[in-house]
Amino acid sequence: MEIIIQPTPETASGIAVRIIARLLREKPNAVLGLATGSTPLRLYRELVRQKLDWSRVKTFNLDEYVGLAPAHPQSSHSFMWKNFFQNINIARKNIHVPDGEAKNIPVFCLRYEKQIRAAGGIDLQVLGIGTDGHIGFNEPTSSLASRTRIKTLTARTRRDNAGFFGSEKKMPHHVITMGIGTIMGARQILLLAFGRNKANAVAQAVEGPITSMNPASGLQMHPVAKMVLDKAAAAKLKRADYYRWVYENKPDWQKA
Ligand code: PGA
Repeated sequence: MEIIIQPTPETASGIAVRIIARLLREKPNAVLGLATGSTPLRLYRELVRQKLDWSRVKTFNLDEYVGLAPAHPQSSHSFMWKNFFQNINIARKNIHVPDGEAKNIPVFCLRYEKQIRAAGGIDLQVLGIGTDGHIGFNEPTSSLASRTRIKTLTARTRRDNAGFFGSEKKMPHHVITMGIGTIMGARQILLLAFGRNKANAVAQAVEGPITSMNPASGLQMHPVAKMVLDKAAAAKLKRADYYRWVYENKPDWQKA
């Protein structure tokens, strides 16, 4: 994994913007995997400001709450339209977000996987990380080979995300999420993590053993996984000085 430590979420998001802008310059019809949550908000805001050409880009979102209609204010659909899609020139037909109202969830999940394959696979997957190490909504003990499927949220994740819903009671228990195997299929991973509450999950994912108890640790097996962290999220990394040294001494052509 490549660990990039930045002073603030703003500078960290700036690096993520540059990585995505470069990909779109090199491949205007790139396929992006996208995430919801508070972490990628700055990234989306800045990407909008950059006025890039999204007309040929395809997107696949990681997850959606089961039972929420696309128009529900807390759905991934709504989040993505409000914070990103409505502000860029992306074609509606190129946007894919799991259907929280799918009648037959296993069939829907197979179709989602098929759509990702038909698009040529995901070039770059944006990820956040849960305080328990989840990526997408793959909670601890999720199979590291899992594909898109239904998952039950842990009590901790429901607590962490209750703020979005106003209260925990209003939160669904189930989600449809790309699996860890699906995420690992992306050609490049770009994980963002900000704040002290992510420091333990980040340290275990980067420097701990590969274990389904911390799903993000599976990314150690990915050939091109970048983690862009602010100082607080990097606070528990034992080799932080080394990661900083590596980044500062990169050849110019390799810098994000
Ligand atoms: P957050 O969520 O960006 O709202 O912190 C991250 C996640 O749960 O993956």
